[in-house]
Amino acid sequence: MKLATTYLGLKLSNPLIVGASPFCDNVKLACQLQDAGAGALVMRSLFEEQIDLEQRAMVRDIESATAAGGSEAASYFPEYSEYQLSLDRYLRQIQGLKALVKVPIIASLNGCRPGGWTDFARRFQDAGADAIELNLYNLATDPGISGAEVESDMLETVGNVVGAVHIPITVKISPFHASPVNFAMELEKAGAKGVVLFNRFYQPDFNLEDFEVHPQLKLSDSSELLLRLRWLANISPHLQGSLSATGGVHTSEDAIKALLAGAHTVQLVSVLLKHGPRYLYTLLQGMRKWMEEHGYESIDQLRGALNQHRCPDPSALERANYIRVLQSWRV
Ligand SMILES: Cc1cc2nc3c(=O)[nH]c(=O)nc-3n(C[C@H](O)[C@H](O)[C@H](O)COP(=O)(O)O)c2cc1C
Repeated sequence: MKLATTYLGLKLSNPLIVGASPFCDNVKLACQLQDAGAGALVMRSLFEEQIDLEQRAMVRDIESATAAGGSEAASYFPEYSEYQLSLDRYLRQIQGLKALVKVPIIASLNGCRPGGWTDFARRFQDAGADAIELNLYNLATDPGISGAEVESDMLETVGNVVGAVHIPITVKISPFHASPVNFAMELEKAGAKGVVLFNRFYQPDFNLEDFEVHPQLKLSDSSELLLRLRWLANISPHLQGSLSATGGVHTSEDAIKALLAGAHTVQLVSVLLKHGPRYLYTLLQGMRKWMEEHGYESIDQLRGALNQHRCPDPSALERANYIRVLQSWRV
């Protein structure tokens, strides 16, 4: 049985990859993930704000540099020393991983506005990264900026990063685009070799005692996969490049569903934080068993089998299903 897949033009032994997270901060852990079967590893992100901060600090004293030039907004951001990996440390981490790990290493850049920081992609490439995942995490809250302007900035950012390197760029997006299929196609036109669905937005809660907003990071569960399945199935017939699923993959069946919807790779974070690196092996065993029981000999054979390729009007189908589900309830 062939679990091999191609992602961003890279040949992977199987589609399960470790998503952007602290796992790759530790080379020993990265080796354990590889030994348990990881097809590739995505490093944690380096942020636009962090790069800007360091670039400004080169001109001034690093300790006194603040994120947005001393404005109130600057105080929202971490101090330079609070970032887990400095820029230099990040580059050395890529080199360290490449020296000891055989599977592809995907570095991660996180930002959404065009700017000098996008050149940093070249330093990832020079340090040995096999590809770059560009995370466009952004919550547009400015009432004066339209969705079209937000997307136009994002596409320009992607074009700039793509133009800075020759390694493949994949783009991690949010589910909140008005027309996700069209946006994915625009990303491809801008030079992206892949799209990652979807960013999981951390959702702050109100504390009713101290009236503070509390940032919190809860791990996912399988229910979050459903949103990804819908859009993988709708986007995959329209892209030449690769698709990756991130968010809510916790079982072998979850991974199979993402592949059936059209993903080339399936990213894992929460499940590995819960169960540890060895769980990758268990998930791969489960996938092999499912494929054997259902007569599939390769990942290529099952990829996209449940996408919307044969559906003449997916929008009408989605709406029909929505109406049918609501009508099915009686009280
Ligand atoms: C502790 C932690 C750190 C993360 N750090 C990053 C990051 O640096 N960059 C990024 O793009 N995503 C980051 N993510 C998001 C994950 O890559 C992933 O998209 C998300 O957790 C959904 O996948 P999951 O359901 O498998 O956890 C992080 C997630 C967790 C839990």
